[in-house]
Amino acid sequence: QPHDTVIKGARVVTSGTVTTCEIGIVSGRIVTLGTGLCGHEVIDATGLIAMPGGIDGHVHISQPSGPGVEMADDFASATRSAACGGNTTVMPFCLATEGQTLREAVADYMAKAEGQCLTDVSFHLIVTKADPVTLGQDLPALIAEGMTSFKVFMTYQGMRLTDAEILQVMDVAREQGALTLVHAENEDAIEFLRDKAERAGQTTPVNHARTRPVPVEREATHRATTLAEVAGVPVMIVHVSNGAALEEIQRAKTRGVRVLAETCPQYITLTADDLDRAGFEGAKWVCSPPPRDTAEQAAIWTGLTSGAFDVFSSDHCPFRFDDSHGKDVPGARKSFRNIPNGIPGVETRLPILFSEGVTKGRISLQTFAALTATNNARIYGLEHKGSIAVGMDADIVLWDPSKTRTITQDILHHGSDYTPWEGFEVTGWPVRTILRGQTVMQDGEPVGQPTGHHVARAKPEVAA
Ligand code: URP
Ligand code: ZN
Ligand code: ZN
Ligand code: ZN
Repeated sequence: QPHDTVIKGARVVTSGTVTTCEIGIVSGRIVTLGTGLCGHEVIDATGLIAMPGGIDGHVHISQPSGPGVEMADDFASATRSAACGGNTTVMPFCLATEGQTLREAVADYMAKAEGQCLTDVSFHLIVTKADPVTLGQDLPALIAEGMTSFKVFMTYQGMRLTDAEILQVMDVAREQGALTLVHAENEDAIEFLRDKAERAGQTTPVNHARTRPVPVEREATHRATTLAEVAGVPVMIVHVSNGAALEEIQRAKTRGVRVLAETCPQYITLTADDLDRAGFEGAKWVCSPPPRDTAEQAAIWTGLTSGAFDVFSSDHCPFRFDDSHGKDVPGARKSFRNIPNGIPGVETRLPILFSEGVTKGRISLQTFAALTATNNARIYGLEHKGSIAVGMDADIVLWDPSKTRTITQDILHHGSDYTPWEGFEVTGWPVRTILRGQTVMQDGEPVGQPTGHHVARAKPEVAA
């Protein structure tokens, strides 16, 4: 019986092997892996590599970011950019605005995403209040509805939770079988350094990196894993930037704590020197934790090749540079303190890891697929996604492993007006993205209707 679509000729990366076979798709699902398949649509993928569509487990879209600040992407532009970068699912965070409940925030996000998305989306939550409504009502209800993971912050005034509050949130995670994600930086230590820098007149963008040094992340990582140990829950440490923080994670694992770890492209390719460019230019690289140095990049690579990291996400958090609602918000030139934190990267995550990892021979195709899709699906409970296997959603990205491109702003599709990787050369580029059997990107450009939808998730296996 004919398939709707057959992909022929590709080397297919499945969880076990890399093999040349055909992929048969019916009604948006993979139904056959074999040879001699027939289909109404036949995609000739000779010379290409078929991988599970990228799942970006950490993106920020249309997130409230402080007075007068606007994020550069809405759901249309963020998912267009994601699809062009080889992704089929993105996982944005729902953050409540002042006076809003988490449930109201989720309803807002759902409405903003509806009908706009070129990839599927699945929301994490952000918990900034440990009050009875959030802990007793909203969290349990939203977890039951498939938002089975949430992030807490140890930094950012107005968002950070105390240790006592984090323990209360983790206790809800334990009761409900959800996964807690932690942004681990010690806010008091940062504030001490920030005040001192400002009093000394050190107010340029590079001082953002200098006032968030490795020890503030290392200490908070130790504390986050210890709190998880005390609460008896697994924990995901997001955006790990350096070797000392990774050592804390390893030590906690040795004690038997279930710790998962994420890192991002910025920590293998950028350094704090990028923030030290002339004038205000360095604001383009202001994100937290900040990029470190080449020794820390090497430590992160060791973690990626040794299996210490579970997932590789973008932490896409886009602001425009030349914009008084973006990086150049009033006060930002007076002090780095006021520069919105975050960089765009949903479209460049996969090409950077493919080129620096697979092409340069540091990681295998299977490790690439695991870090960028398979592990995210398994850890976060996306049951039908993350691998090329019979019964899964036909979320597939075709890679041309020999295509060389120079990353520049004008080839990207995000809403930001710059890329932190301007001029960065890569070998290996996604040439076609297929979401549930439908092509959403071909030859670098978005195609088709925005048929992406919100995906409810199962409870994370690790939290059972
Ligand atoms: O600087 C960053 N990473 N901004 C995004 C929010 C976060 O902390 O992940
Ligand atoms: Zn964070
Ligand atoms: Zn983030
Ligand atoms: Zn274009």
